[in-house]
Amino acid sequence: MSDEVRSSQKAQSDEGGLSNLSHEDRRFPPPEELAASANVTAATYEQAAADPDAFWAEQAKRISWETEPTEVLDWSNPPFATWFADGTLNAAYNACDRHVEAGHGDRVAFYFEGEPGDTREITYAQLTTEVKQAANALIELGVEAGDRVAIYLPMIPEAVVAMLACARIGAPHTVVFGGFSSDALSSRILDCGVEVVITADGGYRRGAPSGLKPAVDEALTKCPDVRHVLVIRRTGQDVEMTEGRDLWWHEFVGQQSEEHTAEAFPAEHPLYIMYTSGSTGKPKGILHTTGGYLVGTSYTHWATFDLKPETDVFWTAADIGWVTGHSYLVYGPLVNGTTSVMYEGTPDTPHKGRWWEIIEKYRVTILYCAPTAIRTFMKWGSEFPEQFDLSSLRILGSVGEPINPEAYVWYRHVIGGDRTPVVDTWWQTETGMHMISPMPGVTSGKPGAAMTPVPGVSVDVVNDEAQSVPNGSGGYLVITKPWPSMLRTLWGDDQRFVDTYWSRFAGLYFAGDGAKRDDDGDIWFLGRVDDVMNVSGHRMSTTEIESALVSHPKVAEAAVVGASDPTTGQAIVAFVILRSEAGDGGPDVVAELRAHVAKEIGAIAKPRQIMVVEELPKTRSGKIMRRLLRDIAEHREVGDVTTLTDSSVMSLIKDNMDKPA
Ligand code: WTA
Repeated sequence: MSDEVRSSQKAQSDEGGLSNLSHEDRRFPPPEELAASANVTAATYEQAAADPDAFWAEQAKRISWETEPTEVLDWSNPPFATWFADGTLNAAYNACDRHVEAGHGDRVAFYFEGEPGDTREITYAQLTTEVKQAANALIELGVEAGDRVAIYLPMIPEAVVAMLACARIGAPHTVVFGGFSSDALSSRILDCGVEVVITADGGYRRGAPSGLKPAVDEALTKCPDVRHVLVIRRTGQDVEMTEGRDLWWHEFVGQQSEEHTAEAFPAEHPLYIMYTSGSTGKPKGILHTTGGYLVGTSYTHWATFDLKPETDVFWTAADIGWVTGHSYLVYGPLVNGTTSVMYEGTPDTPHKGRWWEIIEKYRVTILYCAPTAIRTFMKWGSEFPEQFDLSSLRILGSVGEPINPEAYVWYRHVIGGDRTPVVDTWWQTETGMHMISPMPGVTSGKPGAAMTPVPGVSVDVVNDEAQSVPNGSGGYLVITKPWPSMLRTLWGDDQRFVDTYWSRFAGLYFAGDGAKRDDDGDIWFLGRVDDVMNVSGHRMSTTEIESALVSHPKVAEAAVVGASDPTTGQAIVAFVILRSEAGDGGPDVVAELRAHVAKEIGAIAKPRQIMVVEELPKTRSGKIMRRLLRDIAEHREVGDVTTLTDSSVMSLIKDNMDKPA
């Protein structure tokens, strides 16, 4: 096992996350009633394993094709896969029109709950009309199939409309999380050559309007190719509108025709690009295409959550700016004709029971959120959820990072009333869909374990030599067979796609996660094995934050580590060496550097702690030993320092840390 796997394992067990791995003997079998009518049964696994291609060909029938595909997987040019390549379809038609045509136009697609308490109920018929109008608006702005459109919005229904309008005309969207800074926005716009941006004046966050349009204006000073900005009015804040470039959505989209016939595109037509942090500084543009992505997301949404579209009310409490929002708030649920809840704001506005109030109000049956949220609710105390009727819930989902056994048990007990299976879903922006998860009608859940691959998916845990590890051992998680919603490449960088995911082990997809098989062969996740941190379920690259710090004139060198944190999973801790001309940097240097990172990347990337140090621990080849810095950040005994050029560095840093701030 590599050092990295070992140290990430150590970090986890220190946190209590996996310390009881070997003696975790609590089991939660599926409720009988749920198992009796479950979408996925033990037989599903057998069918899928016997012939995965036939299994996925069968799943492809869930969606509507203009031309039915005869091909399934083409893996003749690995690692570049195609799925259902001779089929044609339209993604927005699958998410909207077909439900109206099937007589479900009156079904609610979204119950929208704004943070200030405003609400909207949007039926499939209304959604379809709005998407058609928005598609017509984009066409009038000259957007053509293949052109990229950036979306920078709060969690409001127009975000879904904008995504589907792009999909409808074959223009891949790139949604940039509203919490990212103008610099992060401009680098994404430039990387994929965007000419049209969809944004809003602002959104509501923690009880106050917070502006978005000013960030777009600033970003566009660096993006001369952007021709138009469509601006949704959400908060009513004053915004500057640039003549000839900026248009109000309610005027421009509102006046468009409600008629638009969706054109079919090839299955491999690009659907969207989603940027995510990698182990080097520059974010990667993950490319997803249409047919396979819709098959994979709609299948897993139906399977993992045992979805009954006529009766369930589904809530993914994640932002649309992340892949979870794309796959399980937009595409999966809408293709399945689901009624979903969409919530704009934070869980404690105006009070700490807001989520539970929403669940009671809409009789939510399935809740899907991140362990960091669950740990926060645990910290606030069960008195908040206990004030509300949560008896409608029947399944609880978790995503984004390993769920600690104690958080799992609290979630199941306090939120789920001990009735609800908890499905801990492991997947990535790259995989597009759930890959490893319990199935609620089949699996006896184990707190803390992601368990087994979903039907149709094949994974392994391997050692450095690509050999399968025996039960009871740890290694690297790999995916051994292509899957329909896999990323096709990195935007504009096929070589980086090959290098990042397919070069570590021949023929295997390298996920970047450490994993362990327990004595039953079930899979537990141990955290990343690369320089990617997981902060509140968000992927952050250590190098990206280091580059941001070093771009500040006072900083000579920076090293960033993810230290385990009881609420956010990992927290960002930075060690910086100041330039000599900066002197000691002054009393506010830490605040200044934190603000600088927020400006370069976004507030979510602000380090929890910044330590000004004289030296950084380096190997003789000049590599910063983050493992040692992590020991310090987590207040552990510092590990092996024998490969350091100068081992006294560590005591220097440690002394510095122990000094009162
Ligand atoms: C981590 C989010 C353990 C993992 C959908 C992965 C998890 C990265 C889990 C992807 C889970 C996600 N258990 N770890 N259930 N879910 N991860 O691309 O390290 O934002 O590689 O996708 O999050 O993060 P991403």
